[in-house]
Amino acid sequence: MSTYPALRLRRTRVSPWSRALHAENVLTPADLIWPLFVTEGADEEPIASLPGVSRWSIVEIAKRAKEAAALGIPAIALFPNTPEHLRTDDGREATNPGNLMCRAIRAIKDAAPGIGVLTDVALDPYTAHGHDGLVDEGGYVLNDATAAVLTQQALVQAAAGADIVAPSDMMDGRVGLIRAALEGDGHHNVQIMAYAAKYASAFYGPFRDAVGSRGRLKGDKKTYQMDPANAEEALREVAADLDEGADSVMVKPGLAYLDIARRVKERFEVPVFAYQVSGEYAMIEHAAAAGAGDRDALVMETLMAFKRAGCSGVLTYHAAHAARLMGA
Ligand code: PBG
Repeated sequence: MSTYPALRLRRTRVSPWSRALHAENVLTPADLIWPLFVTEGADEEPIASLPGVSRWSIVEIAKRAKEAAALGIPAIALFPNTPEHLRTDDGREATNPGNLMCRAIRAIKDAAPGIGVLTDVALDPYTAHGHDGLVDEGGYVLNDATAAVLTQQALVQAAAGADIVAPSDMMDGRVGLIRAALEGDGHHNVQIMAYAAKYASAFYGPFRDAVGSRGRLKGDKKTYQMDPANAEEALREVAADLDEGADSVMVKPGLAYLDIARRVKERFEVPVFAYQVSGEYAMIEHAAAAGAGDRDALVMETLMAFKRAGCSGVLTYHAAHAARLMGA
């Protein structure tokens, strides 16, 4: 092995052309998925805990989808803020083919037919108690009963035009049930991106404001989302979801779980996505606003970290901004 002075690792870093030539990873707008919030309310509702991110009306969200397409962002992820009076203990609005989500999907498909639409399959934007599933008298989130509702929810989303259904609920067995139901309904090419390794994280706070579930949530989500202490368990979650028919898997949150993304990639060699979640976005925005770092540089550095970890792509609220920084 050659050593200094024959080996000078700085040699390839001397000039911009050489750094470009030796870059091991590239980030392009095609690596990004842009999460968007839809509301029944005003055209634009800023979200205080997510500075720079708003909920949009159906008319406006269709414009955001067009904007994404023009920027070269291949897909958007949709989340609804369900009107108060439609939130119930059983979250039944989730399976209404005419719900806000399904109407938004149709509007987006009309406005920007070329963009991929990823939909969230979980009950928290629809339940009065803010949990992702049905709860029993003791407050326990029921697995199998919830999975049955989620299956219906995925079917109405697919019928409305969803390209990728993404169960974010962490119930056991739901990927297999959803896959079978999609096949049964002729939705052979609707993909499933499983939130396979999703942790019970403190980084979801602003998202819960965005979908209006923060104030209502009773207790926490630790009986279904994973313990941040665990990594082997994440591999078992991924194995199960792949076995049940997931086309791709997600690790969530992102930055604090890059080790999981890397291990999943190396073990399974499948498409892995990471979700740079709301709290991570807010952390960057607040750090930049406080002068702790350059906003654009922080955005690009953290997004590149996902590529380096082996991710095919990343869900990020910075998607449009990042695409513009890349010259789109
Ligand atoms: C819930 C869901 C959450 C997020 C996506 N889907 C929050 C939660 O599990 O409580 C979080 C995304 C983010 O924080 O940006 N189904």
